Amino acid sequence: KSIHNIFLSSVIKGHSALWQELPPQGWISMSCICRKPKTGILMLNMGGPEKLEDVHDFLLRLFMDTDLMKLPVQNKLGPFIAKRRTPKIQEQYSKIGGGSPIKHWTSMQGEGMVKLLDEMSPRTAPHKFYIGFRYVHPLTEEAIEEMEKDGVERAVAFTQYPQYSCSTTGSSLNAIYRYYSNRGDRPKMRWSVIDRWPTHPLLVECFAEHVNNELMKFPEEKRDDVVILFSAHSLPLAVVNRGDPYPQEVGATVQRVMERLGHCNPFRLVWQSRVGPMPWLGPQTDEVIKGLCERGKKNILLVPIAFTSDHIETLHELDIEYGQVLGEECGVENIRRAESLNGNPLFMKALADLVHSHLKSNEPCSRQLTLRCPLCTNPTCGETKAFFANQKLS
Ligand code: FES
Repeated sequence: KSIHNIFLSSVIKGHSALWQELPPQGWISMSCICRKPKTGILMLNMGGPEKLEDVHDFLLRLFMDTDLMKLPVQNKLGPFIAKRRTPKIQEQYSKIGGGSPIKHWTSMQGEGMVKLLDEMSPRTAPHKFYIGFRYVHPLTEEAIEEMEKDGVERAVAFTQYPQYSCSTTGSSLNAIYRYYSNRGDRPKMRWSVIDRWPTHPLLVECFAEHVNNELMKFPEEKRDDVVILFSAHSLPLAVVNRGDPYPQEVGATVQRVMERLGHCNPFRLVWQSRVGPMPWLGPQTDEVIKGLCERGKKNILLVPIAFTSDHIETLHELDIEYGQVLGEECGVENIRRAESLNGNPLFMKALADLVHSHLKSNEPCSRQLTLRCPLCTNPTCGETKAFFANQKLS
């Protein structure tokens, strides 16, 4: 029997007790069937392969994304690199349980967020979250189709990257713009965008809480000696030098978190995941760990600061490559990693608060989004910014 039928027969027979008996998914399905969502929140992220067989297509979409990277003869070189890198990346995913947990965490965060929003903002309820990934299903375009099918009136594109980069959030926003421009008609929904939130007080609070929890796990006599390394995904210098705001915004998050922690320990902002021969933003996380050990600083706390959920760069790169292999090679005494924000209820509150304040503001986007990078050469960026900035919200 479908949930819908069970629900209808329970209403007819007056079985109110059934409400208590249905599993949590039942509630969600029923709210989708019975209540047309007024506000749709599209949670944007790059996504990750859920299974090993999804790795190739994930890499293919990534290497073909011209907003993320420009390669010579990209339509030939992109597929070539994706195919060549697939076995190595599959091996990494197999070491972290066979797939990325990002969809699992995003769903949990989305559910927590809309539940809070329905209470906080009855005027814009019912709220429904949608997941729009850039490189795996559900793709951003598929999510928009679902929102339109559901009859959403008010759509919020909500980046799940707290700090803005044209390679991440910018790429997702360009995908929304292209969806409509390829289709050749105007959106049925009124769109706005939460494009960055690097210093939101509850985000800062969550990070501070996770840093503090992990610091407490160091032996007491070593705690003062711990160096905190905030690690964020690096960017090619070519991207930084065209005026991308990401390094400044990551620095802002780090500064607020350390202020919240009362500058309890020395810290550095370091950058991970560099690939290829071109120069990238540094210093690199692995080189910093080595350098610190050589200088006798052998108690290290790694803090992922630019992603909120676990992904391959935390579970494989930070935990296995640096925490286990490199840590042992360098002779660290203690190296630990602060937990990602994942299922922290305070983080769901942060997400709900961001959407609630955004809806109240009636602003289509931040002022910062309206400025293109001073050396931007991608015309779509300008069109995307105009698309969002010119939305009529009332
Ligand atoms: S690359 Fe930043 S606006 Fe185009």
